[in-house]
Amino acid sequence: MLADKDRIFTNVYGFQPWNLESARKRGDWDNTKDLMARGQDQIIEDIKASGLRGRGGAGFPTGMKWSFMPKEPKPGKPSFLLINADESEPGSCKDREIIRHDPHKLIEGALIAGFAMRARAAYIYIRGEFIYEAKVLFAAVEEAYAAGLLGKNAAGSGYDFDVFVHRGAGAYICGEETAQIESLEGKKGQPRLKPPFPAGAGLWGCPTTVNNVESIAVAPTILRRGAAWFSSIGREGNKGTKLFQISGHVNKPCVVEEEMGISFRELIETHCGGIRGGWDNLLAVIPGGSSVPLVPAAQIMDAPMDFDGLKALGSGLGTAAVIVMDKSTDIVRAISRLSYFYKHESCGQCTPCREGTGWMWRVMERLRTGEASIGEIDMLHDVTKQVEGHTICALGDAAAWPIQGLIRHFRPEIERRINERSGDLAVAAE
Ligand code: NAI
Ligand code: SF4
Repeated sequence: MLADKDRIFTNVYGFQPWNLESARKRGDWDNTKDLMARGQDQIIEDIKASGLRGRGGAGFPTGMKWSFMPKEPKPGKPSFLLINADESEPGSCKDREIIRHDPHKLIEGALIAGFAMRARAAYIYIRGEFIYEAKVLFAAVEEAYAAGLLGKNAAGSGYDFDVFVHRGAGAYICGEETAQIESLEGKKGQPRLKPPFPAGAGLWGCPTTVNNVESIAVAPTILRRGAAWFSSIGREGNKGTKLFQISGHVNKPCVVEEEMGISFRELIETHCGGIRGGWDNLLAVIPGGSSVPLVPAAQIMDAPMDFDGLKALGSGLGTAAVIVMDKSTDIVRAISRLSYFYKHESCGQCTPCREGTGWMWRVMERLRTGEASIGEIDMLHDVTKQVEGHTICALGDAAAWPIQGLIRHFRPEIERRINERSGDLAVAAE
């Protein structure tokens, strides 16, 4: 369990005000210019040494991503930091808490990260539905400008840096980094083909790094307390602390900062008051937001909650949005509902996703009602394999994986429905 002294987000529940005065008491903006005086390359080296991996879901090494940015931006091609606050993954609600209660961690992180990658400015793209959070963020940025922490000679560092907040309009796909870039440019939010990755050609064709809110908000504390401190938490390849968001059938759903690699059982017992109805009542868990496959109860109990631990179970840490389902859950219906979500949110740009998501959802509904034939289970699995890896962005994979997880772990339940319905029909026909 994470010791209180190792918590980064000490105001995650909003017991103290979010404002600058209060944030300073919590240690934010403390000698920021000294951190920056270490120099850009050293900051990137420190973040690399900390072992921080992207907290938006994919887990790409953060320091390495920063190092892809040009050391000497070309004339007319300024570099940008784009902070992805379009948190829309079903189950995810951590970036929202950071922005609500600790916006200055994010803004200070934006300055330091932007400086390290030699960016001219940071854009924070915030989910359209986050109305209150956007208000807080706008006000916090204003406070930072008024205090000389942003703008010319930001925080007395000699570096000029601006932060702009941009509100999205409520499309899930605009959380995908290249769709977000398109949207910010004023176009329809549709993903671009990668490569080129944004560091090569991003916002307005300029070098851009897209980072999640949590990845940026932890950077100042890592630099203050040292890479060795951060990397002493967790285990090899899975370092540091992480905000877990636990929802569903636990006694006390919550957002909590914990060490990477904590076991599922400890996470739930320590922070959520256990599973509703007791551990025997646990059916399955989606451990990383809706895009990763579910894991059945028996496998997840003692699993380490980190990138590698969950990958070994055929799932993933994703955003660490842990969706707990007890035995009252209609698991086929739950996954069918997720299928509908992906069908609805597909941007329609590539055929396997545009057609496949609708097709998968319709078959999922037939499985749910038992109207399908047994052969359709394998056919659906084949279709998920045709979608997975054959689309422009990860939404296609995200639509395929939950269904694959369902078929892998709950095939007897699907077959039971089909058999029961055909049995009922046979009885009715007699
Ligand atoms: P990705 O693995 O394609 O990329 C991750 C990051 O690494 C990107 O910034 C990408 O530009 C960079 N990158 C990867 N390979 C690179 C290379 N060779 N050179 C330079 N940069 C490289 O994953 P993606 O599509 O960005 O994210 C997928 C994840 O997003 C999923 O795992 C899911 O968990 C998560 N997700 C999170 C949501 C949220 O609300 N936070 C919503 C939906 C999905
Ligand atoms: Fe759009 Fe889906 Fe293709 Fe992504 S995979 S670009 S969401 S159609």
